[in-house]
Amino acid sequence: MKIAIVTDMLRIAYLPGEEGMREDEQKRKTVQDLQEVISKKYECIDLVFAENITSKLVKENVDLVFNLCNGIIGDTKLAQFPAFLEYEGIPYTGSSILGHTLAYNKVVACNLFKSAGIATPKFIAVYDINDLDNHEIQFPVLVKPCDEGSSRGIHEDSLIFDMESLKNKVAEELILYNPPIMVCEYIEGREFSIGILGNGKQIEALPILEVDFENLPSEMAGFYSFEVKSYYKDKTVYKCPAPLEDEVRIKIEGTAKKAFNTLMLRDYARVDIRLKDNVPYVLEVNSLPGLQKGRSAITRMAAACELGYEGLVLRIIEIAVKRYEESIRRVAAAESFKVADSRAY
Ligand SMILES: Nc1ncnc2c1ncn2[C@@H]1O[C@H](COP(=O)(O)OP(=O)(O)O)[C@@H](O)[C@H]1O
Ligand SMILES: [Mg+2]
Repeated sequence: MKIAIVTDMLRIAYLPGEEGMREDEQKRKTVQDLQEVISKKYECIDLVFAENITSKLVKENVDLVFNLCNGIIGDTKLAQFPAFLEYEGIPYTGSSILGHTLAYNKVVACNLFKSAGIATPKFIAVYDINDLDNHEIQFPVLVKPCDEGSSRGIHEDSLIFDMESLKNKVAEELILYNPPIMVCEYIEGREFSIGILGNGKQIEALPILEVDFENLPSEMAGFYSFEVKSYYKDKTVYKCPAPLEDEVRIKIEGTAKKAFNTLMLRDYARVDIRLKDNVPYVLEVNSLPGLQKGRSAITRMAAACELGYEGLVLRIIEIAVKRYEESIRRVAAAESFKVADSRAY
């Protein structure tokens, strides 16, 4: 089997500064980590999602794409590469256009959680700062973009305690990020991340990871801001498996699995949760979680069980291959049904 790892062009030109630079660096390292594992078992090449990508994939006779493309710009950027692959009929790892689109927009995702009975923080979607005057706001609130990742746009000053600071922050974010900007109820509580592997009913949760902010300097606000992710990883304590009573652990795992299926995700994803009064609140689901060895959360979870990094990467491939085999079987069964059906008349 020939596998192509495909990642994005550089994002720095579109998202300047530290945020874009770190995203590019993370992707470069992830390609190296994956290549090391995949090339041991399969033929493996790496390509960039740029012009002519589908013709290159066809020319290279690629059997499966290991998709690492977050996309560069636009409110469906995670779905753009899968759209090319679907059109060309090239199999790929991870979620489809549908899952990525639903998960990537946190306004859409949170509304779907609500309708599925999954607890999620209350929020207001703001397109214009004047909209804020029409709402009764209970402070503190957390301000965040509706479609970014790696805490881009979630900084130490994003936890807001008064209206004036809120208007300034929302105005600033409306310039940098896609509207709407989300003004969220702040969930004070322990923070967990849950890795999910599989499809449909056959999904499993990896050991739960707790992100503990206790050891951070006292001026830090106690949530997973861009500053914490970028400069304080060493001071952040990752507990995996998280110390939890069985009953709460089962509740968190059940919520994470339900969130995964509610967003119609495939193969693998990571669910971010905060626990308040023993209720797991889903903050978001990462439909294309980072896979940088030892650094990305889901790889820490894999390291905490028998899977390990290598096992995680190979499992993602196996799950994707199995999914395609099952869909081929479904098509064949439908075809034979059609033949039998036409004979009957
Ligand atoms: N409603 C909220 N209440 C408390 N903390 C939040 C809330 N929303 C986000 N956070 C904090 O911000 C971090 C990043 O938010 P998240 O929605 O997961 O964005 P990203 O996609 O950038 O990871 C979370 O891990 C959490 O610490
Ligand atoms: Mg997150």
